[in-house]
Amino acid sequence: MVQENISNIYERLDGQNIIAVASGKGGVGKTFLSITLAHAFAISGEKVLLVDGDLGLPNIDIQLGLNTTYDLGQVLTGKTPMNQSVSFVPAIGCDVLSGHLGLSATTFLSDGQLQLLRDDLYILAQHYDHVFIDLGTGIEKTITLLGSSAGSVLIVCTEDPTSLADAYTLVKYLSSRPKPPRFSVVVNMANTQKEGERTYQTLLKACQNFLNAELSLGGIIHQESHIKEAIRQQMPFLTTYPDSPAVKDIETLVSYLKNR
Ligand SMILES: Nc1ncnc2c1ncn2[C@@H]1O[C@H](COP(=O)(O)OP(=O)(O)OP(=O)(O)O)[C@@H](O)[C@H]1O
Ligand SMILES: [Mg+2]
Repeated sequence: MVQENISNIYERLDGQNIIAVASGKGGVGKTFLSITLAHAFAISGEKVLLVDGDLGLPNIDIQLGLNTTYDLGQVLTGKTPMNQSVSFVPAIGCDVLSGHLGLSATTFLSDGQLQLLRDDLYILAQHYDHVFIDLGTGIEKTITLLGSSAGSVLIVCTEDPTSLADAYTLVKYLSSRPKPPRFSVVVNMANTQKEGERTYQTLLKACQNFLNAELSLGGIIHQESHIKEAIRQQMPFLTTYPDSPAVKDIETLVSYLKNR
């Protein structure tokens, strides 16, 4: 019986409930979206874990004004198990696994350590309905390993051509992995719905033509000053500016993620 339960658990360790938020390019809204999506799913009654996967330059604590005792630094140095390193954050109604300032995965984490991190995450993810990972910028090995371990990746881009180029490169790396994740695109800071859709179509065509990769449109989030303001106040956007037009955009994205 115990044997059967253990094998059942291992069969489910496939990261299907993990959504990685990635972009290639920096400053496009990954941290804002990771926090806001985790918050929105928690509001709808789901049990959510939010992970700061930006190992060197974590942002979640800063955007929410947190001062957590435990973080990924202790997990990676073997001081604290991952499941004891999460903190419940009442402001967003979910558990947070914070990053650690100055950790450089590329310089001191071996591939083995990164794989252990991924395996710990898979096991921890079993206790949640959804896990959101805020990935760092670029295409270094932590990002490609965590990104390809997730069931799906939200590719965040803006109308800026450099953002599109970096998003394309990220999809290229992730889609070449043995078990590629499912890709969805979020066009953030869009000036208009039409321009957001055009941006998605440009990325889609490049990925279809040259990578044979499929990307669905998850949503378009408009440029909205309330978002900057909420981050400046280190407050969650959804509860600070519930009437902001961009809240509707977030609701559309949440409903896409729940119904796909
Ligand atoms: N839809 C939006 N409208 C207006 N401003 C936005 C929007 N989305 C994000 N921002 C602003 O963009 C900035 C960058 O956002 P954020 O830190 O979430 O990006 P990031 O991709 O996580 O950056 P990094 O690569 O540095 O981790 C923030 O200052 C935020 O206020
Ligand atoms: Mg960030």
